[in-house]
Amino acid sequence: MRRPAISGIAHNRSSRLEGFYRRSLEDRVALISEWAALTSEETALLADSIGPRHADLMIENVVGRFAMPFGIGANFLIDGRDYLIPMAIEEPSVVAAVSSAALLARAGGGFSTGSTDPVMIAQIQLLDIADAVKSKNAILASKERILACANTSPSLSRLGGGPQGLEVRCLPDTPAGPMLIVHLLIDCRDAMGANAANTAAEAAAPVLEQLSGGRAGLRILSNLSDRRRAWVEVEIPAKAFDSSDYSGRDVIRGIAEANAFAVADIYRATTHNKGIFNGVDAVLLATGNDWRAVEAGAHAWAARDGQYRALTDWHVRGCEEGETLYGRLELPLAVGTVGGATRSHPSARIALKILGFEIDGTNGIGPGNCGHDGDTVARSGSHGAKRLSEIIAAVGLAQNLAALRALATTGIQKGHMRLHARQVAVSAGAEGEAVEYIAARLIAEGRVRVERARELLQT
Ligand code: MEV
Repeated sequence: MRRPAISGIAHNRSSRLEGFYRRSLEDRVALISEWAALTSEETALLADSIGPRHADLMIENVVGRFAMPFGIGANFLIDGRDYLIPMAIEEPSVVAAVSSAALLARAGGGFSTGSTDPVMIAQIQLLDIADAVKSKNAILASKERILACANTSPSLSRLGGGPQGLEVRCLPDTPAGPMLIVHLLIDCRDAMGANAANTAAEAAAPVLEQLSGGRAGLRILSNLSDRRRAWVEVEIPAKAFDSSDYSGRDVIRGIAEANAFAVADIYRATTHNKGIFNGVDAVLLATGNDWRAVEAGAHAWAARDGQYRALTDWHVRGCEEGETLYGRLELPLAVGTVGGATRSHPSARIALKILGFEIDGTNGIGPGNCGHDGDTVARSGSHGAKRLSEIIAAVGLAQNLAALRALATTGIQKGHMRLHARQVAVSAGAEGEAVEYIAARLIAEGRVRVERARELLQT
């Protein structure tokens, strides 16, 4: 699947950053600044983002700021275009692992993605209904009137978004008695859409009460955004997995077996999907998106047939000579490239810029712009949110591939140990070049302990 260029997306450079991790922090910053054409102010913000005053305007009871490492997932080729992936995460190995999996995927032409329209569901709960069938029919017969009431954002409809459809579900037997649930389907364009959905639900509730003869209870979006999904596929030749210790054919078979385990077993599926979210959440956080919403929706989606399962499919394709590993991930992904923290948080703005999204400055950096501004919902009609959801799906699949490849071969501890040893060396007081030296010695000795690192520092 190939798609046309999206304006502002950087696509004439390679994301294949060989030896990026070996460069100094200063070199890495300089390279990324050049890649994303960051201004000097933006480059400075990579190191020091929101100030305490800005934080105080974002949430309540602020007493400080909590900083996270901001790293770059390299080597991504998505729909024929190179991407560097901004990731905010505290866990060692995640960024290195996703970059190595993205490199493997390049051997198969990279990732191919797709997504639905950005349609969110807003729910209205109707109680005290005397005749559910009659009320349901009355609501369905007045669909256009209800959608008109729910159409509260002229700017969103100007961009082709807004309420598009309506469904009525009956819950005949709940502990609180029978209820009718109305779903408004709202195209939120480039916004995550919580504000748009909640406003629409509240606006439509009075007419729904009138039509049903009932009483409106909750009016709120559903985080099971199963109408707003993204998917990604990859197909990698077995030989790309060859190493001195393992044949590629054995590795891809191991990955397929690992996936089968996670499809069949809820305990494994939970860990498997957690690994996907190592990547997904890191991009959501870096871009100022609501990772709790995406997690909630994706886990519910993973259990849609009644059993919680792996979100991915990995299987071996082809025959003897030409075997490949095919992988696919599909999940609900309600994200925005406008509104909320995506534009008001300076780091999120920079993350979007690194991904190639145009930053128009309409919701600029500054303490006055930190709230959830429903009006920013509709500033962009460029399908940025769709694209972001596809990129995030690709990161999730790559992260999963990295984990399964390690688990199906040497196990994950070997890779983890390298970074863990660095942290142990730092805890023991190592600085500068000594960190790598001590870490290497700890690994070579098989004793990654702070006491040993202290001893080594004294010699
Ligand atoms: C660790 O953060 C994630 C993994 O456990 C995922 C997996 O087991 O697939 C390695």
